[in-house]
Amino acid sequence: MTATRQTVPADQPAQTARLLEVENLTVSLPTRQGHCNAVDGVSFGIDRGAILGLAGESGSGKTMTAMAMLGLLPHGARTGGSIRLAGTELRTMSQRGLRNVRGRRIALISQDPATSLHPMLSVGTQLTEHMRHHLGLSKDAAHARAVELLTTVRIPNPEQALGHHPGVFSGGMRQRIAIASALACDPDVLLADEPTTALDVTVQAGILRLLDRLRRERGLAVLIITHDLGVLSAVADDVCVMYGGRIVERGRRAEVLGRPGHPYTRALLDALPHPETPDSALRPIPGSPPALGAIGDWCAFEPRCGLRIEACGQRRPLLNMLPGAPAAALRDAATTDASTTDASTTDVTSTSDHEAAATSEHEAACFVTAPAGAR
Ligand SMILES: Nc1ncnc2c1ncn2[C@@H]1O[C@H](COP(=O)(O)OP(=O)(O)O)[C@@H](O)[C@H]1O
Ligand code: SF4
Ligand SMILES: [Mg+2]
Repeated sequence: MTATRQTVPADQPAQTARLLEVENLTVSLPTRQGHCNAVDGVSFGIDRGAILGLAGESGSGKTMTAMAMLGLLPHGARTGGSIRLAGTELRTMSQRGLRNVRGRRIALISQDPATSLHPMLSVGTQLTEHMRHHLGLSKDAAHARAVELLTTVRIPNPEQALGHHPGVFSGGMRQRIAIASALACDPDVLLADEPTTALDVTVQAGILRLLDRLRRERGLAVLIITHDLGVLSAVADDVCVMYGGRIVERGRRAEVLGRPGHPYTRALLDALPHPETPDSALRPIPGSPPALGAIGDWCAFEPRCGLRIEACGQRRPLLNMLPGAPAAALRDAATTDASTTDASTTDVTSTSDHEAAATSEHEAACFVTAPAGAR
């Protein structure tokens, strides 16, 4: 599944649309029981100018997925699969090579701007040193570019702002400055790990609008990582939902959020507050996500799922195209027939089924997928 480049103006020169391709990525971390998969067979692609949302509760493996792209995993981590940036393999790249990729081609913004902004240095020093070091710009050129970047992220009085320390600014303004810093070397990909989690709702909306504008104006490929599916409802082109290190559902944003097929996605959506009925009780998902090492070759959501059947604890469901998904015509006749029969009896583990599903628009890894349109 790939986000399309629909928002980039048609008069821009043609370039390879798919920028980042992650295929069957595994990240295995050392634990007392040996190495365990924190990321298990994750695949997605992001085109230039597109936003992909990666959602899931804490501990699903979202940050480890992003860190694998930057080569910044915990000591002793092992990886498998492929991470290609414009065709270049990053997973097996040397640390020296990755240092050139980090910041320059793939930039990271995190939940807490304090991790990317030094509290004791002025905004100007931080922005300009970064550019002078990485881009070899003169002092004046770096200063001019820093003003331009702060203007881009809509910091008022950018000249003055350069002289202040980060602590002078509100949380939302600090996140804008962190985004300016991430853009300093004109990266191709922006990884935004919970970029709005520490901010109140109005400020959140402003940061999301900014990311939306930047991907359009700069053709940036953006990965927004969040525990809150609501964050993705306005800006993401595509959504992947992660649980226990695996992608359990993926597709176009309107499909995943409007017609969720996986019980976990539905539970995440049901747990969101409803602005139109603020007094209605929140419906948190019972239980907690599995610990690293507690996931076997079965459905990781099984202990918390009200729809589980016997197969759920015995086999691992693979991503399977949902009945009624937009790309149903892409499947061969046999698998299309299977998708229109009782979903609970469909064997989604067969290889041919899975391969056919790989071309689909909306997939879920569940033995009991919802009928189209159901919530
Ligand atoms: N430095 C680390 N050492 C060992 N385990 C870790 C480390 N960081 C994260 N984990 C474990 O890896 C799994 C995935 O974590 P993470 O990618 O941070 O999840 P998310 O970002 O979705 O909250 C979790 O089980 C977490 O406890
Ligand atoms: S595979 Fe079974 S346990 Fe897992 S989400 Fe689907 S119905 Fe629930
Ligand atoms: Mg995280």
